[in-house]
Order: sequence, then structure tokens, then C-alpha cells
Amino acid sequence: MKTVKDKHIWIIGASSGIGEALAKELAARGAVLAVSARRKEALESLLTTLDGDGHIAAPLDVTKHDDIKNAMAQIRTAFPSVDSVIDLAALYTPDDGTLQKLSDIHKVLDVNIGGIFNVIDVVRPFFEKQGYGQLVLCGSVAGYTGLTRGQPYSATKAAIMNLAQSLHVDLEPYQIDVKLISPGFVDTPLTEKNTFKMPMIIDADEAARAIANGVVQSRFEIHFPKRFTFCMKLLRMMPYWLYFRLMRKARDSAASDSV
Ligand SMILES: NC(=O)c1ccc[n+]([C@@H]2O[C@H](COP(=O)([O-])OP(=O)(O)OC[C@H]3O[C@@H](n4cnc5c(N)ncnc54)[C@H](OP(=O)(O)O)[C@@H]3O)[C@@H](O)[C@H]2O)c1
Repeated sequence: MKTVKDKHIWIIGASSGIGEALAKELAARGAVLAVSARRKEALESLLTTLDGDGHIAAPLDVTKHDDIKNAMAQIRTAFPSVDSVIDLAALYTPDDGTLQKLSDIHKVLDVNIGGIFNVIDVVRPFFEKQGYGQLVLCGSVAGYTGLTRGQPYSATKAAIMNLAQSLHVDLEPYQIDVKLISPGFVDTPLTEKNTFKMPMIIDADEAARAIANGVVQSRFEIHFPKRFTFCMKLLRMMPYWLYFRLMRKARDSAASDSV
């Protein structure tokens, strides 16, 4: 995709945070949008703020395959094509170092991983039939390595990175461009729950601009802010003895912060 102007883009997870800011940014750049998430009222109120015409709301829960199928049917009726699907839907429960309830862990797995497989199951055959498409999945720098106090969220983001890497190659023959978004800290309702200091945090508008720029470039990974993501990429390259030494320090400092 060389430009987003006049392109039909489906954003899943658009009712708040990065998705909401991205909808505003892409609409301002001339895209026509379908916006999805569970909160219908939030989506409808978002529509009233978007530049341009023809945008629609298609509420859904990513854990419900039928919801996604119905939303896809609604979008196909309203739009002549779907050029890009950007899936940002995710849940995050801060890990305070104590054992989380298993039912809460399963909720995160169900939305963050199960939800993406549900979306792919509906979108992939559509893109194959259409003969092209772009699928953008949202990981996180939290998925680069196993961070202290990162579970289960970080594990889901590691899985998404892995999945996006596989799909990037496997779907290329069908002219489907798979990309991965790897944000650092972004100020949204998701990070409001964090009690620790988040280094180099940016606002959702800056994240949205980085994503809107990234979807029209050829690079696989859209990562930001670069000053932070490069540090996190360095962590990946460290030998375990050094990596765990740093993580132990981070664990002890997080524990003393929360006393
Ligand atoms: N903020 C950060 O620092 C940061 C860093 C790295 C990665 N990320 C990733 O960026 C993406 C956006 O996060 P955000 O920070 O903007 O958080 P957010 O404001 O909490 O947005 C999450 C979005 O996901 C939707 N969602 C949650 N469960 C859903 C479900 N079952 N079905 C459909 N939609 C669902 C929410 O809408 P409803 O509640 O209306 O369903 C909301 O629109 C996520 O993938 C997150 O992991 C964020």
C-alpha cells in the first residue's frame, strides 16, 4: 500500500487509546474506515470526530468468531474492497509479582492470542479471494524478551511477533503484506494501570502517526519510539548471564517501588 488516501481500512480495537488516535490520523490522511471493538457507543462517538465520509462502526468481540464474521459481512456490503486490517485489540493486567488468578490469565490469552487467530481465520480467505491485502498485528517491545513482571501479557506479545513473522513469509505468495507493530510505552487507558515509571512514554497521537507512516512503507516492523525500541532490541542480543543480571536489578527496583 503506497498511500492510505481512499483506501478502506478496518481497525480492530479502535474504541480507545492507540486505535482511536490511529482512526483519527488515518481519516485525516484520507482513508475510509471501519472501526471495531466491543464498546458500540465509543465507536459511534468516534465516527462523529472523523474527517471524511463513509466510515462505519462494526462492533465485535474478538473472542467471538461469529462477531468477526458478521462484521466482515457488514464491511463487505459497505465497502468495495478492504485494503488493510489493523488488529490492535488487547487486554493487559499488570503483573505485580504475585500469582494472578488463572481465569484472568485465560482472559488475556483468549483476547490477545485467540482473538488474532479468529481475525485471521476470517480475513485471510477474504484477502486471498480479493487477490491482495494488508494485515497488521500489534505486538509490543514487551514481547522481545521475557521481562520481569510481564506475564501473561508479554508472553502473548511474543507469540504475536512469532506469528506475524511466519505469516509475513507464508502469505506473501497471495500478495498479502503482513506487518508487525511494536510500540514502546504509550499513554493510553492500558498503561494507566501501571504504577511504575514508564521510560520514554509517548502520547497516542505520536504512536498513531508512526503507524500511519509505517503502513505505507515496505518495512515489516513498525516500532516506536525508536530511542526506546533500539534499547529493547539491544537487550535481545545480550548473553543470558548479563540479561538476567539486569532483569534481577529491575525486579528488585520494581519491588521496592511498590512497597
Ligand atoms: N499503550 C502501550 O504502552 C502499548 C505498548 C505496547 C503495545 N501496545 C498494544 O497496543 C494495542 C492498543 O493498546 P492501547 O494502549 O491503545 O490500549 P487500550 O486503550 O486499552 O485499547 C485496547 C483496545 O482493544 C479493544 N478490545 C479489548 N478487548 C477486546 C475484545 N475482546 N474484542 C474487541 N476489542 C477488544 C478495546 O475496546 P473495547 O474495550 O471497547 O472492546 C480497545 O479499543 C494493544 O494491542 C496493546 O497491547 C500498547
